[in-house]
Amino acid sequence: MFFYQPIQLKNGQKCILRNAEASDAVRHHAYFVQTHKETDFLLTYPDECTLDIISLERQLKETKCSGTDVEICAFVDGKLVGSAGNSLIRNCDKMRHRVEFGISILKGYWGLGIGDALTKSCIECAKNAGFLQLELEVVSENENAIRLYKKHGFVEYGRNPRGFLSRDGHWQELVLMRLELDVSAK
Ligand SMILES: CC(C)(COP(=O)(O)OP(=O)(O)OC[C@H]1O[C@@H](n2cnc3c(N)ncnc32)[C@H](O)[C@@H]1OP(=O)(O)O)[C@@H](O)C(=O)NCCC(=O)NCCS
Repeated sequence: MFFYQPIQLKNGQKCILRNAEASDAVRHHAYFVQTHKETDFLLTYPDECTLDIISLERQLKETKCSGTDVEICAFVDGKLVGSAGNSLIRNCDKMRHRVEFGISILKGYWGLGIGDALTKSCIECAKNAGFLQLELEVVSENENAIRLYKKHGFVEYGRNPRGFLSRDGHWQELVLMRLELDVSAK
């Protein structure tokens, strides 16, 4: 699904939102490692990016051509600073209306409006793809993310107290959130 949008950040800088491309694979990998080092709120650890560059190139290319999934990157001065995406949860008749959302921004670029813009863009893409429900799971201590999601209309529908088990042995509770795209999306 094609996406391109220039935006202005809260600090006045220009930012380009566009699809991740195969040619972004090397910097996307570096970005993945950095974002996953900077927070303990994401699903995986930095060393769990199992895709090599060739496979990542293929995946980004396939996603760009997909009618369901999307990966939108944010670039400031040509640097990849954020990424968000939607992926179909399961391709069967009873679940083809549900899509999962994920997002991360480099720490140095938090608070500038990139999360807002990427979330809005992914909601738009999910609607355009015909989905009826956008879903996500977020660590319950991740207050900034929860505030972002609520701002865009997501509502909590449950909690999983044993959602993540971190390497140091502690549980991370997950909040399950959803957004009905045919009625409530902004
Ligand atoms: C959560 C995250 C995506 C927010 O991105 P961001 O670019 O910093 O967010 P924005 O500047 O666009 O802010 C958008 C909204 O998010 C919420 N928010 C973000 N940072 C906040 C903060 N420090 N305090 C309070 N609310 C905050 C607010 O609702 C804000 O809207 P407002 O400015 O009108 O109050 C970013 O902090 C991040 O990547 N964190 C690490 C990865 C992660 O946790 N991903 C989500 C996993 S489920």
